[in-house]
Amino acid sequence: MDAVQAIVLVGGEGTRLRPLTYRTPKPMVPIVGVPFLVRTMERLHEAGILDVVFAAGYMPQQITDYFGDGSQFGMRITYAIEETPLGTAGALKNVAEHIRGPFFVFNGDILTSLDLRAMMRYHEEKGGVGTLHLIEVEDPSPFGCVVNDAEGAISAFIEKPPAGTAPCNDINAGTYLLEREVLDAIPPGRPVSIERETFPQLIASGKRLYAYRTRDYWIDLGRPEQYLAAHRDVLSGAMPLIVEPGLTGDGAAAIDRNAIVEPVHVDAGVVIDPTATVGPNAVLGRGCRVGAKAIVRGSVLWDDVEIGSGALVEESILASGVRVGAGAKIGAGSVIGHGVRIKNGAQIEPSSRIGGQTAGASE
Ligand code: GTP
Repeated sequence: MDAVQAIVLVGGEGTRLRPLTYRTPKPMVPIVGVPFLVRTMERLHEAGILDVVFAAGYMPQQITDYFGDGSQFGMRITYAIEETPLGTAGALKNVAEHIRGPFFVFNGDILTSLDLRAMMRYHEEKGGVGTLHLIEVEDPSPFGCVVNDAEGAISAFIEKPPAGTAPCNDINAGTYLLEREVLDAIPPGRPVSIERETFPQLIASGKRLYAYRTRDYWIDLGRPEQYLAAHRDVLSGAMPLIVEPGLTGDGAAAIDRNAIVEPVHVDAGVVIDPTATVGPNAVLGRGCRVGAKAIVRGSVLWDDVEIGSGALVEESILASGVRVGAGAKIGAGSVIGHGVRIKNGAQIEPSSRIGGQTAGASE
C-alpha cells in the first residue's frame, strides 16, 4: 500500500454545540485542555500517517493558526477552505488534487481508540474500494444502520430507521479508509453527502465496501451531553488518550487536596479556595478560579472561568471567560457561552443555553 494519507472533515458549523461553537469551531473545542482535533492528530501520528489534509470551512482561521503547516507535530498539513459547505463527500472531491493513493477520512468530531494500523491491514486483506469503521450500539435509530454480512460486505445504508425496525445495530462510526478511485465517483462543484449519496451509489454500481466492526471506545462529540460523557470517560480511563493528561494536571501543586474529589483535571494557574469542592468529574482550564464554599462537579470549565463563593455548578459546560456570581446556581445540563456573566444569586434552569455570537451577555 502507498503511504496512506488522511483527510479530516472539520468544516461543519457544529450547531448542536452552540453556544460553544459560536466562537470556537468544533475541532478546537478542548478535550481535557487540548483542542479536540489534537487528539485525532495524536492517533494519526502514532499510526505513522503524517500527510494530512484538513477540509475546513467554518471559522478556519483558528484551526490554521493553531496547526500551521503541521511541522510542530512532525506532520504535513494541507488546508482546503470551502466558501460554502460541500458536504461530507463534496469536501473530499474538493481536495482530490492532494490525494495520491489510499486515504483515511475522519469525521472531525469523533473520539475513538480505534487502531488505525489494524484497520489498514483489514482493508488490504479485503481488497474493497473502501472500509468503514462500524460500532455496535443498542439503538441505531438516531444514527442509521449499515447492513453487512458475515464476510463484512456492506449491502445497504438505512438512514435513521424508526426505533425497533433496524435490521442491525451497526452504525457508521465516521472513519473510512478509501481507495483513490472513490473520488472519481463524487460529482464536482456541489454539496454531496458521503453517507447518503456516495456510499449507496458505489454499492449499486457493484463496488465492494467492507465493514470493520470493532469494540473500541467511540463517542461522537456532537452534543453537549456527549461532550461531558467524553470527559468522564477520559478521566476514568475508559477512553485512553495517547498523551495522558494525568488525573490531576499541571495546576495540581498549588491546590489544597481537601477541595478535590477525584477524578479531576486542573490546568496551570488554577486557584481553588480550600473550602470549595471540585469534583468528581470536573475539568478546569487554565487560570480558573473557584471561590469559598463553591461546588463544581461533573462539569467542564474552559480557560479563565471564575466561580463566585457559594456558587453551584453541576453537569454543565462553561466556555472561556465565564463569570458565575456568588451564590448563583447553574442547573445541570447547561451550556454557557464565552464571556457570559451570571449575576450573584441567579438560578439558572437545568439544560439552559446562554450566550450568543458576541461575548459578554449577562443573566
Ligand atoms: P451539527 O451542525 O451540530 O450537526 O454539526 P456539524 O456541522 O459538525 O455536522 P456533522 O456532525 O454532521 O458533521 C460530521 C463531520 O463532518 C464534522 O467533523 C464536520 O466538521 C464535518 N462536516 C460536515 N459538513 C461538512 C462540510 O460541508 N464540509 C466539510 N469540510 N466538513 C463538513
